[in-house]
Amino acid sequence: MRSLEGRVALVTGGSRGIGRAIAVALGEQGARVVVNYTANEAAANETAAAVAAVGGTAVLKRFDVSVAAEVEAAVKEIVASEGGLHILVNNAGVAVNGLTLTAKDADWKRSLDVNLTGTFNCTRSALRALLKAKDMGRIINITSITAETGSAGQAPYVAAKAAVIGLTKTWAREYASRGITVNAVSPGYIDTDMTNSELPADRRAELIKAIPLGRVGRPEDVAAAVIYLAGPSASYVTGEVLRVNGGLLM
Ligand SMILES: NC(=O)c1ccc[n+]([C@@H]2O[C@H](COP(=O)([O-])OP(=O)(O)OC[C@H]3O[C@@H](n4cnc5c(N)ncnc54)[C@H](OP(=O)(O)O)[C@@H]3O)[C@@H](O)[C@H]2O)c1
Repeated sequence: MRSLEGRVALVTGGSRGIGRAIAVALGEQGARVVVNYTANEAAANETAAAVAAVGGTAVLKRFDVSVAAEVEAAVKEIVASEGGLHILVNNAGVAVNGLTLTAKDADWKRSLDVNLTGTFNCTRSALRALLKAKDMGRIINITSITAETGSAGQAPYVAAKAAVIGLTKTWAREYASRGITVNAVSPGYIDTDMTNSELPADRRAELIKAIPLGRVGRPEDVAAAVIYLAGPSASYVTGEVLRVNGGLLM
């Protein structure tokens, strides 16, 4: 018996990287997966194929998590077509890089809009359906190691990811009495488009030296933590931040 049989899961930013691995792992455990993306339909289709390849079922839903009206309409459609929603994974994110001294208003706004307001929008729209899911209801927010360590040159990103931890604990308290658990997963350095586009090879080698487990993370490492938090084994875990970083931060 697969651990998430009969559940419906929405993964924001499921078209690539960590979100794709999460979608595949959820599908493998028997959940019906709604794969959200905003621009990259070809990649989203590849995710759906990868879910099918492990015996799961996926449908695609394009919307921009930062636009509340789009999120609200999409979640309504998902709940109507899938018959409910049990698991929300707030994974969609963008890296916004640059020193504060020269930061542009637009960079600050973009990071907060997607990384923070996007998480808020999706949760607010999903909550009614999650309340109906009762003790199967799960919210899992993807934060970042940088929320706890800081990261020079990433102020708007770090601000948003730190706030996501605050939201996680707040929602854990707000909905505990209704059986919904709310947790965050905090990845360290994971091999995806996001990181590959920003780190030169020499910096990457230096970083690997600093990671006690001696390698960068794989999207599947993060997905495994999500599967644990989404499943019945974690029913007494809420308000937690689960770090997946190879020991880079302990
Ligand atoms: N990679 C790391 O080392 C690392 C470390 C810590 C935390 N994280 C966090 O993990 C999450 C996934 O990161 P990743 O590395 O997998 O990133 P990625 O490879 O760049 O993928 C980002 C995903 O987010 C989607 N997305 C971006 N803006 C969106 C929006 N406005 N609405 C809906 N979807 C949107 C993208 O969709 P399209 O394909 O349509 O563009 C894509 O599916 C992010 O929250 C990130 O901050 C990553």
